[in-house]
Amino acid sequence: MSVLEVAALRREVGQAQILRGIDLKVEPGEAIGIIGPSGSGKSSLLRCIAGLDPIVSGRVLVAGKAAVPGDGAIGMVFQHFGLWPHLTARENVALALKLVRKLPRKEADAKAEAALARVGLSAQAGRKPAGLSGGQQQRVAIARTLAMEPRVLLFDEPTAALDPELTTEVLDVIRDLAAAGTTMLVVSHEMGFIAGLSSRVMFLDHGQVVQVAPPREMFGPDAEPRVKGFLKTYLDRVAWAQG
Ligand SMILES: Nc1ncnc2c1ncn2[C@@H]1O[C@H](COP(=O)(O)OP(=O)(O)O)[C@@H](O)[C@H]1O
Ligand SMILES: [Mg+2]
Repeated sequence: MSVLEVAALRREVGQAQILRGIDLKVEPGEAIGIIGPSGSGKSSLLRCIAGLDPIVSGRVLVAGKAAVPGDGAIGMVFQHFGLWPHLTARENVALALKLVRKLPRKEADAKAEAALARVGLSAQAGRKPAGLSGGQQQRVAIARTLAMEPRVLLFDEPTAALDPELTTEVLDVIRDLAAAGTTMLVVSHEMGFIAGLSSRVMFLDHGQVVQVAPPREMFGPDAEPRVKGFLKTYLDRVAWAQG
């Protein structure tokens, strides 16, 4: 059974058609890369799956059942980490475990420590965000999401707010989670990363799926013309930057 199923999902705001009927089935352990131009609906799709944005029609099923927003089955990591500045990394990760999951303090702290270990931040557990680099702060945010033990993890441009040197450590963490079998949807403009990570890549444009294909196909010579056009612009920019 698919761990996540999105069917005929539509989102409208006033007259604007934001998502025009999205279908996607995700099998356990899959990493789905989502690419497409700015404004194509990538964030909206993740937000609708997470129950953060209302939809006008369609379904989101988790393991065959209607998703319940806020039950923790779907976890989301945003571009902006949103950590509490007055709390340590451990306290940031443990907060929802105490408040939402109602875990006793000791148990919540132990789970927080374990989640921080998974992102390589055991040594920084007692530090507040101001004492951490941007990459480390994003890893704390990932640990905070992991600690809730979601069935599916959603990443919305998790490195877009980071300097290039700090991007690598965050991409490495996401890659390790995928290798460990975490089911995830990842929106990113880091094309090399998406190509290496994804079991399948989805290309969105104007709120519609243009193509879903394994990376070899999506980044190969037989991709849809719209996809090739988008990737050519991207590659031209990288070539210029390296030139
Ligand atoms: N709350 C909203 N109200 C009106 N328009 C929105 C809202 N959220 C997103 N949009 C519009 O929906 C389209 C898709 O946005 P978004 O999902 O953020 O795209 P992406 O993440 O691919 O850049 C854009 O045209 C954006 O302006
Ligand atoms: Mg976006």
